[in-house]
Amino acid sequence: MSLYLVTGGAGFIGSHLVEALLKRGDQVRVVDNFSTGRRENLPTGVDVVDGDLADDGVAVRAVGGCDYVLHQAAIPSVPRSVKDPLGTHRANVDGTMQLLVASRDAGVKRLVFAGSSSTYGNSAVLPKREDMRPSPITPYALQKYIGEQYCQLFTSLYGLETVTTRYFNVFGPRQAPSSPYSGVISLFIKALLAGQSPLIHGDGRQTRDFTYVANVVDGVLRAATAAGVSGEVINVATGGRISLLELVRAVQLIVGSDTPPILDAPREGDVKDSQADIFKARKMLGYDPTVPFEDGLRQTVAWFKTLSV
Ligand code: UD1
Repeated sequence: MSLYLVTGGAGFIGSHLVEALLKRGDQVRVVDNFSTGRRENLPTGVDVVDGDLADDGVAVRAVGGCDYVLHQAAIPSVPRSVKDPLGTHRANVDGTMQLLVASRDAGVKRLVFAGSSSTYGNSAVLPKREDMRPSPITPYALQKYIGEQYCQLFTSLYGLETVTTRYFNVFGPRQAPSSPYSGVISLFIKALLAGQSPLIHGDGRQTRDFTYVANVVDGVLRAATAAGVSGEVINVATGGRISLLELVRAVQLIVGSDTPPILDAPREGDVKDSQADIFKARKMLGYDPTVPFEDGLRQTVAWFKTLSV
């Protein structure tokens, strides 16, 4: 039994990691500033450090005694970073730096960092492979790239084991549709359940490798303990891609709605197409996405329905 620190553990992906770790019998501590995380996402009795990782001393308190650190805390929004480069830099870069130093000093066995597909930017080549040259086009993408570069530096310079798992548009239960910065699937489900039109930025032909959260949890837990992966950057996704127009259709079918979408101006900093090559995850982590897109979408809609009763 190991002690895992999940940063951002009250958030969407973090809380799924907490749940999976407890289920298999590991011990868990969470650090969260509850900016977007919610206490209701945490099982009762979980050890919680309530604080902001970018503030001095919080990371040190959080990592003490931990074997593994799963770093999920972030302000995870491309458009929000375009609006607020300073605030998102503090959360996504300063917080990561504090955590890396504290993890190094506490003798953590390995830190897994939540990277982002946005790091690949807008190059036309698909699918995205980890050895492609990063080309961030927004503050968020650059902040995530800086985070993974720092992880690799801490591995080579200080011997702290790190792995970056690059996520591709994760969705699932507990992804709150509470702000315009929320993930598109949560916003589309919310709109269609309420009988409203989903708002599409652009022509709807942009594509994403939408990944159900259970697949990400599996990839991250593997990355925490797999042999021979320290210092690596690894895509964790499904390897497919669908357009927003296809997404709207899929949600409409599950919800039983034919309310049409509204097309709006394209969003600043938007990447056109995104699709992962997951060969490396398969080879180095033994990863295989087990929940297909449509099954995940059905489970997500079912969760949203429990909210509105
Ligand atoms: C990006 C990253 C992803 C990262 C995530 C964090 C890429 C390819 N992906 O996702 O790795 O984890 O940020 O949030 O960069 N959209 C609408 N209507 C809406 C909301 C969004 O049409 O109401 C569109 C967006 O313009 C975009 C797509 O849906 O084209 C997906 O948007 P979003 O869910 O915000 O995620 P990304 O920005 O793709």
